[in-house]
Amino acid sequence: MTTMQAARIDRFGSPEVIHLETLPVPRPQADEVLVRVAAAGIDPVDYKIRQGHLPMIGADQLPLTLGRELAGVVAAVGDGVIGWHEGDRVFAMSGDEGSYAHYARVPAVHLARVPDGLDLELAAAVPLAAHTAWQALFEHGQLEPEERVLIHGGSGGVGHFAIQLAKGRGATVCATGSAASQEFIRQLGADRAIDYERERFEDLGEFDLVIDLVGGETQRRSWAVLAPGGRLVSTLEDPDLTLPEAQGKVGRFFLVQPSGEQLAEIAALIERGQLAPHVDARFPLQRAADAQRHLEEAHVEGKVVLVMDHAGR
Ligand SMILES: NC(=O)c1ccc[n+]([C@@H]2O[C@H](COP(=O)([O-])OP(=O)(O)OC[C@H]3O[C@@H](n4cnc5c(N)ncnc54)[C@H](OP(=O)(O)O)[C@@H]3O)[C@@H](O)[C@H]2O)c1
Repeated sequence: MTTMQAARIDRFGSPEVIHLETLPVPRPQADEVLVRVAAAGIDPVDYKIRQGHLPMIGADQLPLTLGRELAGVVAAVGDGVIGWHEGDRVFAMSGDEGSYAHYARVPAVHLARVPDGLDLELAAAVPLAAHTAWQALFEHGQLEPEERVLIHGGSGGVGHFAIQLAKGRGATVCATGSAASQEFIRQLGADRAIDYERERFEDLGEFDLVIDLVGGETQRRSWAVLAPGGRLVSTLEDPDLTLPEAQGKVGRFFLVQPSGEQLAEIAALIERGQLAPHVDARFPLQRAADAQRHLEEAHVEGKVVLVMDHAGR
């Protein structure tokens, strides 16, 4: 196969700027693997890039293929790649090369093997969101068993992994979400689901760690529920450490980093039945705009994925 289709943008704007293009199938460079993409996860970062709202992706980087994570099968390996072979079932955060495409190049060190029994469409929902949840809880949040953690946005892509991972570590988990997501949050194992429209999370006592997947006012209000020395970890914005309520507490923002080794640990939890991705909706590649609109506007439980049709290619 020499050509493929990819969902791309050549300007920033509404979902309508996303269009399909026929492109040459890329060749893997040294230390890269070419993946025949079965499905690509959709993340808020994708629509933020499309809107031109991500400071590090400027107009000088257009046109580009959207998408930051994928699952599929190894189609070819570049020079110097050891341990990966054609036909291996893999998933990963993709590199600079977007994943809304039939094929994508991925640095070999980002890859992990998809657990047996996990279909590739579910696997595509894992890499970016599960990495983010893991890094928020265990690297930046230093969560210990027996601690109390509050997760804002518990029903979304990152939140649904964070609830499961924190429970698996032995923490007491409270998570906020909309009225529609309360049952889903409980099913994920949260000890307490909080409807952010009707309840105040301040009424639930003190926490050792807050995972902020919402930002803004929710983040600012969160200082008040942290115990002395407690930690606030945000995926959205730098916590304001100058606030009086922040004194004696720790706050940080981070950007998720890809790691094949970490993804292999996540895969092992999935294989043992201790972690499960949930896919709310699947769209074909040619409906990438609708898929992004769905994630942005609907009350999504877990993740949205794009599924590639390789028929005839
Ligand atoms: N820094 C990084 O490297 C990094 C990595 C991954 C993600 N992120 C960012 O982190 C955020 C979360 O990512 P995601 O993939 O989990 O997004 P998502 O799938 O859209 O989930 C966000 C969740 O937040 C809930 N929510 C909205 N307003 C809320 C409120 N006031 N209180 C509590 N929950 C609320 C939504 O629930 P309802 O729709 O039901 O209201 C939704 O389930 C996004 O902004 C994303 O861009 C950053």
